[in-house]
Amino acid sequence: MSNLEILKICYLLGSLSFIVGLKMLSKPDTAKKGNLFAGIGMTIAILGTIFLHENKEGEGIGNLVFIFGGIILGTVVGYFAAMKVKMTQMPQMVSLFNGMGGACAALIGIVEMDTHHPEAWGERLIIFLGLMIGSVSFAGSMIAFGKLEGKIKDYGSKFQQIFNNTFIFAILALIVYVAIDHEVSDSFIWIIFAASLLYGVLFVLPIGGADMPVVISLLNSFTGVAAAFGGFLYDNQVMLTGGILVGSAGTILTILMCRAMNRSLWNVIIGAFSASSSTGKSTEGLSIREISVTDAAILCAYAQKVTIVPGYGLAVAQAQHACHEFEKALEAKGVEVNFAIHPVAGRMPGHMNVLLAEADVPYDKLKEMDDINPQLPNTDVVIVIGANDVVNPAAETDPGSPIYGMPIIKANTAKNIIVMKRSMAKGYAGIDNELFYDTKTRMLFGDAKATLEKLIAEVKNV
Ligand code: TAP
Repeated sequence: MSNLEILKICYLLGSLSFIVGLKMLSKPDTAKKGNLFAGIGMTIAILGTIFLHENKEGEGIGNLVFIFGGIILGTVVGYFAAMKVKMTQMPQMVSLFNGMGGACAALIGIVEMDTHHPEAWGERLIIFLGLMIGSVSFAGSMIAFGKLEGKIKDYGSKFQQIFNNTFIFAILALIVYVAIDHEVSDSFIWIIFAASLLYGVLFVLPIGGADMPVVISLLNSFTGVAAAFGGFLYDNQVMLTGGILVGSAGTILTILMCRAMNRSLWNVIIGAFSASSSTGKSTEGLSIREISVTDAAILCAYAQKVTIVPGYGLAVAQAQHACHEFEKALEAKGVEVNFAIHPVAGRMPGHMNVLLAEADVPYDKLKEMDDINPQLPNTDVVIVIGANDVVNPAAETDPGSPIYGMPIIKANTAKNIIVMKRSMAKGYAGIDNELFYDTKTRMLFGDAKATLEKLIAEVKNV
């Protein structure tokens, strides 16, 4: 069997591992293995390319010192970055890594144009498009990173939207022109590169800071498409498969997130949610009732069924381990405990699943919104921990609310509701929450982790 034939088998194995790995990623209990599986496939494809690829003259790719130097450097940086990152900084890291993928796709375009000067218009078009999409993804991801770090503010105007749309059409027109007319100087590639970087910045700048997870997912799909273009260019099946999978998975995730927030992608892109002037129904004049830690512990310990609704505040407080301890303390008293997971609770897709999995909460206790909602009227106590928008009944009752139509965890239908948060501050959508004023609701103020630790001690004493 020739080297190229073995390489084709490596690519087939790589492609298969991506598909199977992706499938496994869709369930929390197989996700870790899925990641590893796809990683092994990727390693086979990379090593296969390095050692088995030959050009038409039968020469290998060479440059092994540079290649392995780069791989080792990248592995070390990636490993320490991933080990050090806090759960609340995960979206930033994803954004940074995605930006690197976009930059790679852009570099492929520049290098290919510089070394091969292709004349076929189809090949030139693929190079220019890959360069453009990769550059937009790189620059956009860097701005998204800055926003998530709180270093870059939202900036945008109606004029900018019009400018952005005109600008992207101008770049596309230039790409078609220089792709068709190969007499045009190849140095146009630098103009396309610079213009695409600028577009990436302008595209992400107006989008609301907290909408960044949706944008990162969208940029991720751009990177996938850019990589797929690279696959076309090199006639490399594994790059093509990987790129298509990333592109389609990113697109599906973007659509699902928008749907879970009941917003269109366009609404996210023009930053309409954060810029919305509506703050929903006023809760002025309504009063809240508080509960002490001891009373909350007694209420929960004597309940038959308790459902915990985790939200962004749980991640901020890093209270996932305390939350699991609390669940175990209640179970020791014979209480049935479940977790109600809203698809956009927190600030990144699957945020709550990842957070609770880190604390070893059994997967079968994590109930999806549609499964848990019908059970809530028979639930004795719902404990909302650091969640706000995802339990706001205004999404169902107030057509004037910016979140109207967003599916919610119907905590208000339970027999008793305890809300744990630090103050009466609003959530991400910036609106009041009538649930806090419900006659069945008691507020338990304080940092989620500190309060949970006190609750655990009290439950054990009951
Ligand atoms: P939010 O509505 O943002 O509410 C979080 C609450 O946590 C706040 O009201 C805050 O109140 C409380 N909190 C913060 N730190 C805390 C701490 N240390 N201890 C206790 N509580 C703390 O969160 P949510 O209900 O999870 O909703 C998520 C929102 O993000 C939705 O509007 C969703 O559309 C949006 N979003 C999500 C995603 C994804 S993919 N997940 C993407 C984009 C947008 P205090 O300050 O009073 O404590």
